[in-house]
Amino acid sequence: MTMPAWNAKELTVGQLAARSGVAVSALHFYERQGLLSSRRTSGNQRRYRRDSLRRVAFIRVSQRVGIPLAAIGEALRGLPDERTPTRADWETLSTTWRTELDQRITQLVRLRDDLSDCIGCGCLSLDTCVLSNPHDRLAAEGPGARRLECDTVPADCSPDSAPLQDCVAPPAQPDGPRTHRE
Ligand code: FES
Repeated sequence: MTMPAWNAKELTVGQLAARSGVAVSALHFYERQGLLSSRRTSGNQRRYRRDSLRRVAFIRVSQRVGIPLAAIGEALRGLPDERTPTRADWETLSTTWRTELDQRITQLVRLRDDLSDCIGCGCLSLDTCVLSNPHDRLAAEGPGARRLECDTVPADCSPDSAPLQDCVAPPAQPDGPRTHRE
């Protein structure tokens, strides 16, 4: 008779928490999200397969690099027979996620730079604040802060291609919102 998988070594939730370093409440949460599964004993206690340890490690490492739980769940569900990710699975997934991570880092760096322009300002102007109006009429010029203080924008006007002092300053607004060069 073939031994069922559940007859292999199993872990209680406490053991899984202790071995993985993840709180019991987090393990229950993962289970509610469908990332982890267990069986119930006749006494209604959870028992986890031993390979759940690797599954939990996969979830934690993925979360640590900023992968949302929904994407982690999708990746796990995409594995055949609900198997725990193998080394090859991790290689494939981490390569895909690396690309997404690079894109998010680029986006965050751009946001940080835009935020630097806002620090000490507070105008939240639809005309001058790139964070307040990220999809402004200059979007066709390209991403990022296409318009800083420029009222007219040369085709090549960007923080990288033209010094700010070369741009035409917007009309003065004595009582209006401040520009970020005040
Ligand atoms: S708050 Fe963003 S430029 Fe003023």
